[in-house]
Amino acid sequence: MSIHLLDAMSREGFEQVIAFFDRQSGTRALLAIHDSVQGPAFGGIRRWPYPSDELALRDCLRLARAMTFKVALAELKVGGAKLVLLDRPNLDLEAAYRALGGWIESLGGRYQAGPDVGTGDAQLRALGERTRYLACPGEAGPGELAPATAAGVFHGIAAALLHLDGEVDWPRRRVVVQGLGAVGTELAARLCAVGAQVVGADLNLEHGQALARQLAIELVEPEQALDMACDVLAPCAMGGVVHDLSLPRLRCSVIAGAANNVLVRNLHGDQLAQRGILYAPDFVINAGALIRGVSFQQTGRREAVESIGERIGATLAQLFERAAEEQRSPARVATQVAIERIHAWRSAAGG
Ligand code: NAI
Repeated sequence: MSIHLLDAMSREGFEQVIAFFDRQSGTRALLAIHDSVQGPAFGGIRRWPYPSDELALRDCLRLARAMTFKVALAELKVGGAKLVLLDRPNLDLEAAYRALGGWIESLGGRYQAGPDVGTGDAQLRALGERTRYLACPGEAGPGELAPATAAGVFHGIAAALLHLDGEVDWPRRRVVVQGLGAVGTELAARLCAVGAQVVGADLNLEHGQALARQLAIELVEPEQALDMACDVLAPCAMGGVVHDLSLPRLRCSVIAGAANNVLVRNLHGDQLAQRGILYAPDFVINAGALIRGVSFQQTGRREAVESIGERIGATLAQLFERAAEEQRSPARVATQVAIERIHAWRSAAGG
């Protein structure tokens, strides 16, 4: 099914979509700015071997809109965007990120880049050679971002358990962490520290095994992660986890993780609620890095990771309560709140 770009943009209120091609390095990228009414549009750079331009564009649009939703729920005075870099074998990463840096700089600060899947410290350093507009790693930047995300997920899980059972009681909880990357590793370590039983899964088996030994956690095959009986499934790999085929397999009470776009459709959020599975909307629970990045950009201070996590936990607790009162899924309530807030700031700006 082909995408009608301008129709999609007007339907979902996008401001701008830009394609980028660098002749020297062959770098191809797309940037979607969903909203920059309140301030610069923040969004990480996803590097992924998309099988087609169209799939890259779809992902870019979906992720950019989710960033504005994230901003709205976290009540930040900025906007949302996403940049996707189309990966391919033998792409010279340093050259690609330097070229991207030059392009981002030319946008004059309307877009602020950051990390995402495929874009870590090394890539951000190359980017930073050409642009000021990024959450740069190291001393000059907002500090570590993945731990802030993990703190939000940890406190979000606690809020979900408290809502369901009236207590958190970590030692009797079994949590499956799908994806032991930057966020998943940090989350698993936090859960181990409070005595929860952690089961990990990662596509990179060697990495998974090394981490499982280090943290003394159980490791299962990636394809088994969704079938495990557990209190909490924490998707910390890629999105698209909950769909028609995976839904009947789930044996958890809570889904709460860092991955973006966990639900393939909002309808799946309703179906989770019908099955009695409490879902923490991704764009609420995974806002830790964004909050830290924005707060540093606006104040020059590094907000403590723990207070960011607690703030996210409190937002989710309110959301779960409202969803229960209104007998709607948390995903529906969060989406409605986001849309209302976006409309309000757009109306206030006269647009
Ligand atoms: P990462 O790239 O460091 O880690 C992802 C891990 O998942 C890798 O170890 C990979 O091998 C594994 N993986 C991929 N597919 C898998 C599968 N099907 N089953 C099991 N493991 C699989 O990424 P990071 O930074 O940890 O982010 C994780 C997720 O959270 C991503 O979806 C990202 O978009 C999202 N996120 C991350 C934030 C951050 O601060 N890093 C902020 C907000 C969202």
